[in-house]
Parts: sequence; structure tokens; C-alpha cells
Amino acid sequence: MAKKWLGDAVFYEIYPQSFRDTNGDGIGDIEGIVEKLDYVKSLGCNALWINPCFDSPFRDAGYDVRDYKKVAARYGTNEDLYRLFDAAHAKGIRVLLDLVPGHTSEEHPWFRASASADQPNPYTNRYIWTDQWYAGCGDLPYIAGEAERSGSYIINFFKCQPALNYGFLEPRQPWQLPMDHPDVLATREAMKDVMRFWLGHGCDGFRVDMAASLVKYDDGNKSGTCAIWRDVRRMLDAEFPEAVLVAEWCRPDLSLPAGFDADFMLNDPHSHYSALLRDYNSPVDNTYFRKDAPDRDINRFFDVYLKWYAATKGVGHIALPTCNHDTLRPAYRLDAEELKLAYAFLFTMPGVPFLYYGDEIGMRYLELPTKEGGYFRTGSRTPMQWKAGKNLGFSEGDADALYLPVDPASDAPTVEGQEGDPDSLLNTVRALLKLRHAEADLQADGPFEVLCAEKGRPLVYRRGSLTLAVNPSGEKLFTDLEGEVSEALYMRGMADVNAGRLVMGPQSFVVLR
Ligand code: GLC
Ligand code: CA
Repeated sequence: MAKKWLGDAVFYEIYPQSFRDTNGDGIGDIEGIVEKLDYVKSLGCNALWINPCFDSPFRDAGYDVRDYKKVAARYGTNEDLYRLFDAAHAKGIRVLLDLVPGHTSEEHPWFRASASADQPNPYTNRYIWTDQWYAGCGDLPYIAGEAERSGSYIINFFKCQPALNYGFLEPRQPWQLPMDHPDVLATREAMKDVMRFWLGHGCDGFRVDMAASLVKYDDGNKSGTCAIWRDVRRMLDAEFPEAVLVAEWCRPDLSLPAGFDADFMLNDPHSHYSALLRDYNSPVDNTYFRKDAPDRDINRFFDVYLKWYAATKGVGHIALPTCNHDTLRPAYRLDAEELKLAYAFLFTMPGVPFLYYGDEIGMRYLELPTKEGGYFRTGSRTPMQWKAGKNLGFSEGDADALYLPVDPASDAPTVEGQEGDPDSLLNTVRALLKLRHAEADLQADGPFEVLCAEKGRPLVYRRGSLTLAVNPSGEKLFTDLEGEVSEALYMRGMADVNAGRLVMGPQSFVVLR
């Protein structure tokens, strides 16, 4: 059962490097997040997910952790982060940190010990070492020739990210340890210790990076990895019963029963992201919310979503993000009007919505050279655009010193520029989230039923006592609608109900009671 507070949770994802720099060094910091909590609240977001802010050589933007218990100096101190927890809680905002359980930096002291000539030592089996000094022992990503220790080791993502050893489901070689080997159990306990540390200091849970990656040679149902998460959940239930775990897994049917409260629908090729926000699967661009999509079909999304929804209802939540630090921004494909309809849909669905910083003003994806292992992702990680003028309000530092350049366009969207316009994307986000908080039926656990998903018709869905309809196309569309309608709680464009027929004008959205 997911934690109760998630019922009305709306998350804001912050990439700390790029949110707000308060000391002019060109890099966002914890103090900058504290400074902007009222802004986060003004959006209607009541929870944060902060990308890794721990000590790191930053070869993968902090997903290469060197010290799990220490805030990276460039962001501030542990005390600053504890202060952020307190300040956020005082405003009714919860804070999730990013837990990277599958791998560390190659500079982590555990790995240094594990890779040293001085063997055995307490960290000998903290990582996965083969008994051959050269690579090519089979089917996993091995690195050889880097360590004093004779043997090659397995990585999880980049070369700088050696995989932690949680064991093999069914070992096939002597160097592959079983999941119940004491050294392998010690890895699991070490990760619990990290969780206890931050939860004990006031954080509210974790977004869990590559949550499916723990056990090697796992089976199709990830039974080994799921067993570990169930064990972690038992610890949390006993010691931190309110703690939330959100998986980066994209298999809610597996992750939620294993103890996660929510899982993102994102990485799957049929995810909401591809079907709705940036189509990369069909030869022509059929992004559902594009006004001119030649052959739009919401069932590309529902075919996957509804199956997962049915399998996980009451167990946990499917999280629908606007995008994240690993994807192109939705503004890459959608203009402001299209984004308004896309967000109207995402923010009125069951489960837990996540808004990536800057998507509320339609920040653009910028073509940039790679930074800190970002590669194509770098363009979605640029500084938040607060206001016109120096560095768009991100930093008082020199433009050259910024972590990444700000959007140079003369019409780069800013918070300040959209504040005054009631119909801006920013204020549309606020209005939609306000409605979600006001209507329990629109929240995570509210009922959900699809009424019309036919091509060439408006999409119509029911959330308890409310009927919602959206027409992203440039044409007027209609469908039959049973039942009485007494009022429209929210409307964009034109929507009309008459004698059992719902007519939706071009690019329209409506919430009816
Ligand atoms: C996840 C993170 C991504 C990171 C990778 C390795 O996918 O979201 O940013 O590079 O894991 O930790
Ligand atoms: Ca700074």
C-alpha cells in the first residue's frame, strides 16, 4: 500500500546544478532551493525530488556517488540540506533524495579498497570481480586493466560506475556469489544504512535510480531484485513507516508489489512520454498532443497504461512525469498551447504527477555539447529561467562561469514574464494543480475510467463524479455522452454538451461535473 500522503502529492523535480545559484559561483545550490520553496508551493507542488546532491567526481552529473552521506561541496553542506528539509516541511513540502543503489563512483572508498592490491579486505566482494585479469568473461559489461587487483569488474552504466554486488540469482561461476553470501548481504545493509542516515535527518524518501539493476542474471520477473526491495521495505515499515520509494524501473507491475510506492512510466518505448509528448516510435510524428499529428491515437498510450493500471490499482501508483533530466523537454515537440493540453491530461490522471523544473514555463531543449556525462540530455539541464536580465535570474556570477549557458533566445520564457498573464503556461499549470488539490476524485487514488478513446473523437475519461474531455486537434470533434452534466469546473477552448452530445472545439479541454 502506497503511503497516504502520496494521494494528493504533486512532485517538482529539481536538477540542483541548474535551479538557483545564490553565491555567484555559477552552480545551483541547496540555499537556492530553500529560497525558491514559496515558488514551488505557488505552483501547487507539495513534494520535491532532488537529483543526486552528494559528493561525486560528477562524471555522470552526480549519479556517480563518492560519498553517500555527504552533500557535494558545490551545493553546500549537510547542514544546508537538513535546513532545507525543515524549511520545506514548514511549508508542507516533502523532500525525496535520489538514491543510487546499483553502483558507485570508481572513486568511492569502497571501490578503492575493492580494487587495491591488498586483498582480501572487507570490500573485496562489495563489487563484482571476475577471476580473470582480462575482460570478456561473458555477457556482462566487464572492465579490465584499470586496477591493481587482478581481475575484471562489472559496470552498471558508464565506465566510472562499477556495479555494487548484490549477488547472482543463479551463480554459474565460482566468482559469482549467491544472493545470501554474507559479503553480498553486507552491500544491502550498507545501502539500508545510507537510507537510515538521510531519513533520520528528515528526508521523506527516495527516488531510486536504476532500481531494477541490483541482482545479476535475474529472471524475467526480477525475483532476486524484488526480494531485496521487499526486504528494504520491511526495514522501512518498521523504522520509517512514512518513507516513500519511487522507482526508476518502468515496470509498476513488478516494482509496486516489491515495495515501491510509485514507478515512473517513462523509459518504456510505449511510455506516455513517447506516445503523448515526443513520438519517437512511428515513422511520422504522431505525438498525441501535437495539433497536426496526422494519425493520433491515444491507445498507443492506453494499451500499456491500462494494463499496468489494472494490475497495480490499490498497490501503488504510476507516476507520469512531464519529462526528466534524461529526456528531451516536452517543449521540444509541443508549443505552449499544446503543452497546456498535455499538462491538463497528465495532471488529471490517477497516480502521481511529476513536473520537471522549467517545464511549467515551457523551457526549451537546447543543443549543447555534453556536460558531466549528459550527452544529448545536457540540453534539458540548462539553468532555470527566472526573469529577464543577467543570466535570466539564475546566478549573479559571470555568464562564462555558469554550469551550462542559459537559453540565449530573445523570447526565452521566464517565470517573471508569465506571472502576469492568467493564460500563460505557468498560470495554467497553477490552475490545473489547484483543481487537482480541490477535487479528491482527481487525485492519485480517485476512480478512473476511459469513456471514449476512439480515433477521430475527443478523448473522454471519468474520474468519479467528474467527466473530462480533451481534443488536441485543430478540428471540432464530437462524441455521445451519457448522463447529466451540471457545470464546467474548468475549460480551455470551446466545449459544449447538448442532448447527449459532447462537442469539443479545436485544441480544447474541459472538466465537467
Ligand atoms: C538513471 C539516471 C541517469 C543516470 C543513470 C545512471 O537512469 O536517471 O541520469 O545517468 O541512471 O545512474
Ligand atoms: Ca552556487
